[in-house]
Amino acid sequence: MALDLTILVGTMTSTAELVAQAVQLAAEDDDVRISIKPMDGLDASVFAGGGLYLICTSTYGQGDVPDNAKPLYASLQSARPDLSSVAYGVIALGDRTYAETFCFGGKRFDELLAELGARRLGQVFRHDASAGTMPEELAAEWALSWMESVRAGRALAA
Ligand SMILES: Cc1cc2nc3c(=O)[nH]c(=O)nc-3n(C[C@H](O)[C@H](O)[C@H](O)COP(=O)(O)O)c2cc1C
Repeated sequence: MALDLTILVGTMTSTAELVAQAVQLAAEDDDVRISIKPMDGLDASVFAGGGLYLICTSTYGQGDVPDNAKPLYASLQSARPDLSSVAYGVIALGDRTYAETFCFGGKRFDELLAELGARRLGQVFRHDASAGTMPEELAAEWALSWMESVRAGRALAA
């Protein structure tokens, strides 16, 4: 059975969107259907019914989620849905120049989803904008091995 993966994008200046597109291009095949949803206008109901998600978000302000992610984050905090049927991975974009809050946008989503019962698969992927590397390339590479472990986990559970 095909896998459906939804990538939720939190971004201010579109890097996370480019990263999501690169992940889709690299990881989509006959077995995996990937849809990309900007977080704009979303609320906790995006997780209704459960499934597999990738949170792909940058970090702004004092280690905050980007503006377009704030309503979804606040909705999860107030509605506190049971997300035990949700599995997720995290692509966190940041900049080590902000040493105290490096990649906190992704970290905040990770902590909140885990608190609500969702199950994280794999380690959080973190990209440092000050490193001079391309987030699209590194995240796409990470996503391929992440998908491998998702598949392996599914095979074990079947
Ligand atoms: C005003 C501003 C504040 C930022 N604050 C943080 C921060 O607190 N922690 C961090 O890791 N990165 C921070 N960043 C870096 C961005 O998260 C990083 O450049 C990211 O790749 C931008 O992705 P986006 O284009 O998808 O928004 C900040 C960038 C700007 C311009």
